Amino acid sequence: MESIQSTSYSIHFNAKCYSELNAYLEASNFSKVFIVVDSNTHIHCLPKFLSNIESDMALEIIEMEAGERHKTLETCTQIWHSLSDLDGDRKSLIINLGGGVVTDLGGFVASAFKRGIRFVNVPTSLLSMVDASVGGKTGVDLGTIKNQIGVINFSDMVLVDTAFLDTLPAEEMRSGLAEMLKHGLIKDANYWSRLCDLKALDSSDLEEMIHESITIKNEVVKRDPNEHGERKQLNFGHTLGHAIESYCLDNENLQTLLHGEAIAAGMIMEAYISTKTCGLSEDALSEIKQTFKSIYGTVVLSENDKSSIIELLRYDKKNSHGQVKYALLESIGSCRVDVIVEDKLVDEAFAYYAT
Ligand code: GLY
Repeated sequence: MESIQSTSYSIHFNAKCYSELNAYLEASNFSKVFIVVDSNTHIHCLPKFLSNIESDMALEIIEMEAGERHKTLETCTQIWHSLSDLDGDRKSLIINLGGGVVTDLGGFVASAFKRGIRFVNVPTSLLSMVDASVGGKTGVDLGTIKNQIGVINFSDMVLVDTAFLDTLPAEEMRSGLAEMLKHGLIKDANYWSRLCDLKALDSSDLEEMIHESITIKNEVVKRDPNEHGERKQLNFGHTLGHAIESYCLDNENLQTLLHGEAIAAGMIMEAYISTKTCGLSEDALSEIKQTFKSIYGTVVLSENDKSSIIELLRYDKKNSHGQVKYALLESIGSCRVDVIVEDKLVDEAFAYYAT
């Protein structure tokens, strides 16, 4: 698969990942290379990754706990201590080998350590391949509020080896698929339809679809890297989706949702709001609801849950001047940003989702 050129870096695929990385290590004269893994990728991905590295440079492995609950400043502090203890300096490189938590957090760790050292993302989950590792967003959660602390800072390269997906549980594949479906919804109706028709998530077509999803996201990021306008489209489904995800993470009585599961619910709700505010057709709305429900089912939320989730909307990063701003669909393939929505429509969206 062809490499994709982004703002200041390239995204490489499969065998080319390793030839490019080896050449980059050879050319760059790093003092030390740190590989950040979590407890899962340490076991399932690191051996394969290391077997492809030809450099004889000093490598140090730093492991963090797996899971969204560990996407915190405390974890960053632990890693900063490890970097210091292991003589990391401004000429060190961090390679983030993992899913979205590792690439977001590891990118932030690198961006702040000694005022910024270079880093490379090696996404191992579908979600991180098609979304998190591409586009320079780095950061951590604040309490359970998602991604409140962070910076936009681009990695030196992104290496997408789809063989890592072979070890990924089915629910993690579904989680990543939600972001791919979102790319179709906001930018490309044809891509959406083809993705809906994809019979199995382990099919050979999947690789092409991953490449296409990254291309869609990358084009948006290139035009608006700092999210002043168009990039906000990538947040379709995320205003309500992030609030649902944060709420479930913080509530012992509810099942913790993977990111894609939460934004699938958010996309149904925000598609409903889109029909009332942005002209999305009723047919498109039914198609979106039916598609997401057939893959992700329904998260059961009580009236109390709903009120608490709505309360969390005030932390959304797209808000300004105390107003919640949504990215909504005008049609499948076309998205409008900065839409302000009446409270009653948000209530109706929860009711529509529940049926
Ligand atoms: N995940 C949305 C973005 O990168 O803008």
